[in-house]
Amino acid sequence: MKRTLIKHVLVSDAIGEPVKVAGWVRTRRDSKGGFSFVEINDGSSFSGIQVIVPGELENYESEVLHVTIGSAIAVEGELVESPGKGQRVEIHATRVTIYGLADPDDYPLQKKRISFEKLRDIAHLRPRTNTFGAVARVRNALAYATHKFYQDRDFLYLHAPMITGSDAEGAGEMFRVTTLEPGAAPQAGGSVDYSQDFFGKPTFLTVSGQLSAETYASALDRVYTFGPTFRAENSNTRRHLAEFWMIEPEVAFADLSDNADLAEDYIRYMFQYVIEKCPDDLAFFDKWVEEGLLDRLHTLATSEFRRITYTEAIAALEKAEGEFEFPVRWGSDLQSEHERYLTEVVFDQPVIVVDYPKDIKAFYMRRNDDGKTVAAMDVLLPGVGEIVGGSQREERHDVLLESIREKGLPEEEYWWYLDLRRFGTVPHAGFGLGFGRMVQFTTGMQNIRDAIPFPRTPNSAEF
Ligand code: 4AD
Ligand code: MG
Repeated sequence: MKRTLIKHVLVSDAIGEPVKVAGWVRTRRDSKGGFSFVEINDGSSFSGIQVIVPGELENYESEVLHVTIGSAIAVEGELVESPGKGQRVEIHATRVTIYGLADPDDYPLQKKRISFEKLRDIAHLRPRTNTFGAVARVRNALAYATHKFYQDRDFLYLHAPMITGSDAEGAGEMFRVTTLEPGAAPQAGGSVDYSQDFFGKPTFLTVSGQLSAETYASALDRVYTFGPTFRAENSNTRRHLAEFWMIEPEVAFADLSDNADLAEDYIRYMFQYVIEKCPDDLAFFDKWVEEGLLDRLHTLATSEFRRITYTEAIAALEKAEGEFEFPVRWGSDLQSEHERYLTEVVFDQPVIVVDYPKDIKAFYMRRNDDGKTVAAMDVLLPGVGEIVGGSQREERHDVLLESIREKGLPEEEYWWYLDLRRFGTVPHAGFGLGFGRMVQFTTGMQNIRDAIPFPRTPNSAEF
């Protein structure tokens, strides 16, 4: 008999019909009347399904009574209306097949509540918990929503390379990719001779697909990347990962205000999409992880974002009551505490800050006429702070070259990027949205390590 996913069985009208499901046991209760209730979950939905196993089954005593939490089983039986509360249907089993037991003395997921921190040490088992099953489904829905949003708007999905020779952010936070043996690497002039390395030059894991996206936007008008990016920044915070996924749209013939419109539309679309597709998962997060989450998502799904300049942001922060850990000064970057203060306290809504000082932003951002600022934008959300970083790009060849030189970047590495400004250059803009932070925000999970299946952070790359 063919197996049906539990999410479909739960809404099925085929009462009295035969049905087969399979999954992992969440609970087993034995009744004095000589039968058992077994709840199984296959991850297709938040809820599992209740199965009544009659004592008459031939393997009831030999096998069913040994089934414990975490065991993998399949059940064939009849779908019946459930007399119990909390479920519409249940299954009366006619056959139970056991695939794998889970020894209760060893299986770690026995206790009802295990801290998220502890669960990170068993990241291979945590998707079987309510919380991480729900995070996985919301993450999946947000990924699908992303593709749908951009595809519906005629954006082309671009695969940017993961190995690269250029530092897209110019921040020097890159992981090196090499096949040279540490300690036995060929030397030239007192340092490692990378001309003998695999690619004949130093290479790294990419920090951003933006420069590739600009190339394709300069031919195909509008593109987006959606892939993993890597940063060797040693920041042990609850919103940083060493490997994280980013969505980077890039649009030709667009300026900063078009860019901000796109970011707003995209973020609102994602909220609307998960509210519609993951109601059970969100209800769980609302009840157990962050009170008020659903209300907040509903509000954000329709609300306008506030747009202010960096200079206005600094003025608002200077008026703030109380102290910040990092002092507020025109010219220094906004810290997480400042970002959160702006969106949570000052404006109480998502905020887009534009026109940052040129010295704290990347070389590719377009210089504003004031000579001091660039056409940058950061989107800030309450709770997580910066979720999006983007800008209008410098499309003027001479200004870009000046900026590369001013920042002390290796000019020769950017020859092809400069070429885009020599041949048919065009105003264009784009941004990067940190997917992990989006999942974090949408689920209410406090730590980004719990918003990705296998977090990579300093001193941690197990699994
Ligand atoms: O602001 P960032 O560094 O911008 C860029 O990389 C641009 N090249 C994007 C573009 O214009 N195409 O990073 C973009 C976003 C941040 O706003 C943040 O949400 C996320 O990526 N991010 C991280 N997320 C998790 N862990 C980290 N270490 C992150 N660093 C950035
Ligand atoms: Mg940024």
